[in-house]
Amino acid sequence: DTGCITIDHGFLNTGSCASAITFLDGELGILRYRGYPIEQLAEKSTFIEVAYLLNWGNLPTQAELASFEKKVASYSKLPEYITRMIELFPKTAHPMAIASSVTVALSAHYPELNNPNPTKEQKDEIFALLLGQFKIITAAIQRVTTGQPLVASNPALSYTEDFMSMMGMKASKDVAKALDVLLILHADHEQNCSTSTVRVVGSSNASVFASISAGIDALWGPLHGGANQEVLEMLEEISNAGGDYKKALERAKDKNDTFKLMGFGHRVYKNFDPRAKIIKKACDTVLAQLGVKDPYLDIAKGLEQTALADDYFKSRNLYPNVDFYSGIIYRALGIPTNMFTVMFALGRMPGWLAQWKEMRETKETKISRPRQVYTGATTREYTDLGKR
Ligand code: SDX
Repeated sequence: DTGCITIDHGFLNTGSCASAITFLDGELGILRYRGYPIEQLAEKSTFIEVAYLLNWGNLPTQAELASFEKKVASYSKLPEYITRMIELFPKTAHPMAIASSVTVALSAHYPELNNPNPTKEQKDEIFALLLGQFKIITAAIQRVTTGQPLVASNPALSYTEDFMSMMGMKASKDVAKALDVLLILHADHEQNCSTSTVRVVGSSNASVFASISAGIDALWGPLHGGANQEVLEMLEEISNAGGDYKKALERAKDKNDTFKLMGFGHRVYKNFDPRAKIIKKACDTVLAQLGVKDPYLDIAKGLEQTALADDYFKSRNLYPNVDFYSGIIYRALGIPTNMFTVMFALGRMPGWLAQWKEMRETKETKISRPRQVYTGATTREYTDLGKR
């Protein structure tokens, strides 16, 4: 039992994961981090405070938060070879390939932190280090792949404001708050595909850097975190074809067409994704603050409205998920579409790390070893080549 996958009376019982971090109710559209409703955290908290909450289980005091922020900010420079790796990738490389590669490469710089049973101090170090370094990695990938000079971290700024400054964005307070909310909304989501991957890889006593890198790879998939990039490409295709989103809906309903309405549907939420509601509201605010009028937003709203009234989508409980509107905000901030999933990984980093730590601290953690229902040939005798 890795705490996630158990064999019950000989049957493979996946997903029965014991975890105290995030609670979802798919029918009621409830999402809580350590018991706190996502709506309250999005309104009142900050990403760095939510990261603390996910990892240590309680909201920090002023002093705890200040010391944690300082520690994360202290990881304000990448090892030289990591920056060089980012620079040496072909410009055509997908940013998620770069992100995953350099994350596992960090294991070479912190050999003592590859220990599968780290001390409390080492666990605290790992958490602050990967939060701090992945912020720098994300900004460095964006700057290098768009041919712009790197911007040094400014530890005097908040986590999100420093990130925006390193990305070369003008960080007005309102826009920084909107981006901070986006990061909060992505921070954890119980046993989704990439988090389960982090736990499964970590259960073999592999390095935490390898486990997180594997999580980044799983998130890259278009059915998972990669959907936020696919949504924008879908909206672009609809816009370029004249903006008639009804055709996209017909394609999504056509069994002979593999096209899916990206950003719609969810394994767990069968009513609505509470995060999508918050992001949709933030879209209007951010675009107004930036003075941006994005035709893609109108297409997205039309798609949503029409789909929610359509029997095909209603009968299958298909609603917008976290990826449906997030890309509109990233685009308004000038973030290139192929960086959207790296933004998802930046937000999900605290959740992956908190879940990895919980799995490592689960006393009966065993290596993840799912079984199968065998459907192949029964026993057969070998036939010599000459007789076949
Ligand atoms: C994330 O798990 C998490 O928590 C993930 C996540 C997180 O925070 O970590 O929330 C982040 O990954 C969100 C999901 C992003 N992916 C997409 O937006 C891709 C588009 N969505 C679909 O691929 C799909 O909805 C999934 C993968 C998200 C969910 O797949 P399910 O639950 O396995 O749905 P299903 O395949 O059982 O679908 C049931 C029916 C099928 O039709 P029938 O065979 O019954 O006729 O609904 C149809 C599907 O064809 N369907 C869709 C659809 N999603 C499901 N039809 C058209 N468009 C879609 N998007």
